[in-house]
Amino acid sequence: MTIFKSYTLYVFLSILFTLIKANSSPLILVSYFDGDEIDSTNCKVNQLIKATIIKPLECIRFQHQHEFSTLKYNENDHDDIIVETLYNDLDCKEYKEQVFHRLNYCNSSAHSFWGVENIQLSIINDIDIPINTIVHVSYKGECNGQFKNTFKRIDYQYTNYCSGSEYITTKSSCNSTAEIVHTYKGPSCSGTQYLDQVFPFVNDCTDINNNYLQFCNI
Ligand SMILES: *[C@@H]1O[C@H](CO)[C@@H](O)[C@H](O)[C@H]1NC(C)=O
Ligand SMILES: *[C@@H]1O[C@H](CO)[C@@H](O)[C@H](O)[C@H]1NC(C)=O
Repeated sequence: MTIFKSYTLYVFLSILFTLIKANSSPLILVSYFDGDEIDSTNCKVNQLIKATIIKPLECIRFQHQHEFSTLKYNENDHDDIIVETLYNDLDCKEYKEQVFHRLNYCNSSAHSFWGVENIQLSIINDIDIPINTIVHVSYKGECNGQFKNTFKRIDYQYTNYCSGSEYITTKSSCNSTAEIVHTYKGPSCSGTQYLDQVFPFVNDCTDINNNYLQFCNI
């Protein structure tokens, strides 16, 4: 009887442990920072523009316009490297090449899908979406808003970030239904505001492998 009990307990504990482990598997956080002058050991001296949380091994479009890739982090390697494998096709089957990203390194030579930025990759265990952001989620499975387990990537951009030139600058804000992009004649999002563009949020739940959701997190 005692043997049976401890065996049951053992099974119970190992299932529990597996569940906990599966839940806290590491996620990759890619942070994008503004600025030209950077310190390669720490991007954080510059303003954070946006970030992406990536689930390892999901086939996503990352830094490249045409290629799709998967990112992988091997906890047991202890070598602080995230391996990105690029593919020629959107199902990540046709291998192209590998790119190596050093963890927590502030990389100013990484090319971004959106233009010039400094990127830093790090490992996180929990999804923590900061406030004052516009959030974009690509997820699989049912349309129930419970994307924390089924997401492929989560992108969030800070609404207080002002970009542009000396003459024209833009900044976003949002409400429950849309992103509003404000355009100013002048630097630092000051001066005359002359244009507001409204981009209604998308909630596309038509493909169980490729659902998409946008929302305002303020
Ligand atoms: C910086 O980014 C480039 C392009 O993605 C990559 O090839 C390079 O290995 C990265 N450098 C480090 C140290 O991670
Ligand atoms: C959100 O802002 C847009 C643009 O100003 C407006 O048209 C829309 O009605 C607003 N939505 C809500 C729920 O207030």
